[in-house]
Amino acid sequence: MNLDLSNKTAFVCGSTQGIGKAAAIELALLGAKVVLIARNETVLKSTLEEINAINHQKNEYIIADFSEPEQLKLAVEKHISQHGAAHILVNNTGGPPAGKISDAKPQEFLTAFNNHLICNHILAEALLPFMKQEKFGRIINIISTSVKQPLKGLGVSNTIRAAVANWAKTLSFEVAAHGITVNNVLPGATSTARLQGIISNKSLKMNESIDKISQEMLDEIPAGRFAAAEEIAAAVAFLASPAAAYINGINVPVDGGRTTCL
Ligand SMILES: NC(=O)c1ccc[n+]([C@@H]2O[C@H](COP(=O)([O-])OP(=O)(O)OC[C@H]3O[C@@H](n4cnc5c(N)ncnc54)[C@H](OP(=O)(O)O)[C@@H]3O)[C@@H](O)[C@H]2O)c1
Repeated sequence: MNLDLSNKTAFVCGSTQGIGKAAAIELALLGAKVVLIARNETVLKSTLEEINAINHQKNEYIIADFSEPEQLKLAVEKHISQHGAAHILVNNTGGPPAGKISDAKPQEFLTAFNNHLICNHILAEALLPFMKQEKFGRIINIISTSVKQPLKGLGVSNTIRAAVANWAKTLSFEVAAHGITVNNVLPGATSTARLQGIISNKSLKMNESIDKISQEMLDEIPAGRFAAAEEIAAAVAFLASPAAAYINGINVPVDGGRTTCL
């Protein structure tokens, strides 16, 4: 099985912590050069040092805020003109705040649509010409199992994830002939800052202990535990590899068996 990513470059978004950082590490372990993208330059620099120690390549970073799509577009175009484009794009950023859909304000949907779908599209637009030229491209979107089964209390997120999943599927039809695949990784409950935030938010709202809320979540997971970010990253790395060339336009849940539909 060919998992070799040497001579490949990967743009990995939201890569200073959690799932994105774990994906950047896995891709570097398979030999890819990595371009990290996030907002906090101090953390980008320290993450870059960790990645450099893994693959000993000229990895880079781009500072960008996904709530400013035009700024992201300019930053990415500038980077590509100076350092070149990439064969692999991992679309990922912080999730929308939790909350009931009946409480959500219209602006929250627009903000999440920009942060997720519009930024994914800007990045894909910027990289597709190079991917086509190289006859090798991988676009991997980190979304959520909510595209298969909406999760209670994540109203804005459920809505926007479905849009991203359909964007990805439609794009997969259009680029497949160029050796480019577009797939979605759907993490289940994964031990990251995002999960901690969701649990503590729920604990405050329901006036119940963190342990009780965590246990209720664990009770729904057949594996009986939360995922490690590395377990989500392993699926990302496989989909990015040459071995996954014929896997296109699918949703891959990595959720310990939590999703009850196929
Ligand atoms: N953890 C879970 O249980 C779980 C389950 C299902 C789906 N997901 C989804 O998977 C994705 C990643 O989750 P995670 O748990 O790894 O999240 P996380 O720990 O909160 O990490 C988010 C990453 O995205 C960056 N980021 C956040 N907002 C950004 C913005 N406006 N512009 C650019 N970068 C931004 C952060 O860096 P900076 O702060 O430096 O920008 C950080 O590197 C999210 O969409 C999340 O909703 C997570």
